[in-house]
Amino acid sequence: MRLEGKIAVITGGASGIGEAAVRLFVQNGAMVIIADVQDVVGAQVAASLTPNATFIHCDVSKEPDVSSMVDYTMEKYGRLDIMFSNAGVLGKLFTSLMDMTLENLDRVLAVNVHGSYLCTKHAARVMIPNRHGCILYTASLSTVIAMPRGLSYTASKHATVGIMKSAAAALAPYGIRANCVSPTGLPTPLVVGALGLEIPGFDKKAAEDMYEAAFEFKGVKFEPEDVAKAALFLCSEDARYISGHNLVIDGAFSASKEFSTANFNFQHLAPQKNVDMTGSTVKGE
Ligand SMILES: NC(=O)c1ccc[n+]([C@@H]2O[C@H](COP(=O)([O-])OP(=O)(O)OC[C@H]3O[C@@H](n4cnc5c(N)ncnc54)[C@H](O)[C@@H]3O)[C@@H](O)[C@H]2O)c1
Repeated sequence: MRLEGKIAVITGGASGIGEAAVRLFVQNGAMVIIADVQDVVGAQVAASLTPNATFIHCDVSKEPDVSSMVDYTMEKYGRLDIMFSNAGVLGKLFTSLMDMTLENLDRVLAVNVHGSYLCTKHAARVMIPNRHGCILYTASLSTVIAMPRGLSYTASKHATVGIMKSAAAALAPYGIRANCVSPTGLPTPLVVGALGLEIPGFDKKAAEDMYEAAFEFKGVKFEPEDVAKAALFLCSEDARYISGHNLVIDGAFSASKEFSTANFNFQHLAPQKNVDMTGSTVKGE
């Protein structure tokens, strides 16, 4: 019960890492507000944990949504202890620097960067008077190793770390902590959906195979729960002096390897399109 009595908002809590965190936080005694754009799935997750979880529709890229979601939390519980800004989108991961458009970039920045900022601003608005609180963000391994073709995502997650560090510095005088968790790849709907648009035939199995080949750590199958456990630690009193930290969760990948996709072979999915992420051309096109 490491979060007993705590009031937490988890954005993107309807699926993947966010859902795992919702379940783990509730198990540890928190009351959780799930803020997501997926109304049906989000409400189902909340219903499975009732009365300890509630769903609210919130598009984190829209300030009125984020502001109302924080106001709703205050009306319901009277305070906000934890803001876990986790919602995110991937954008185009296999599109070269030259082929990307401002439209691609804007969409990813709107959710990942504006969302992180808005969650910070509105959480701080209600945490500062209490002189207490914790803000956590899901960034990415791409904050330490760039993806050659994932410019918009890599840039957005660097910005998330920047927002976190700035918030940690600005909010320390009020006893409010800010940190990031930065995982490697997980075959969540975020990845399967986005890569499925770019690589014909890409499915959950392809995502699992891709990550198993790329991020192997002997004896461990990396799961959203592994990220949720790190989030639980950072949001608990055990981490009361940890602020301004980007916790990379990658089984030592970034200690020794580069984010080349030499390991990622999609020939069997799209033989006509050999995706070579180390260069700007796609062989066979
Ligand atoms: N899966 C990975 O490989 C991976 C790796 C590193 C970081 N991350 C990050 O983890 C976070 C969670 O992703 P996931 O892998 O669990 O994916 P996911 O698709 O399972 O979950 C993402 C959730 O965010 C929600 N969401 C998307 N846009 C939103 C918006 N505008 N407002 C509110 N909610 C919105 C989605 O509806 C979904 O429920 C993201 O920030 C992602 O960038 C994922």
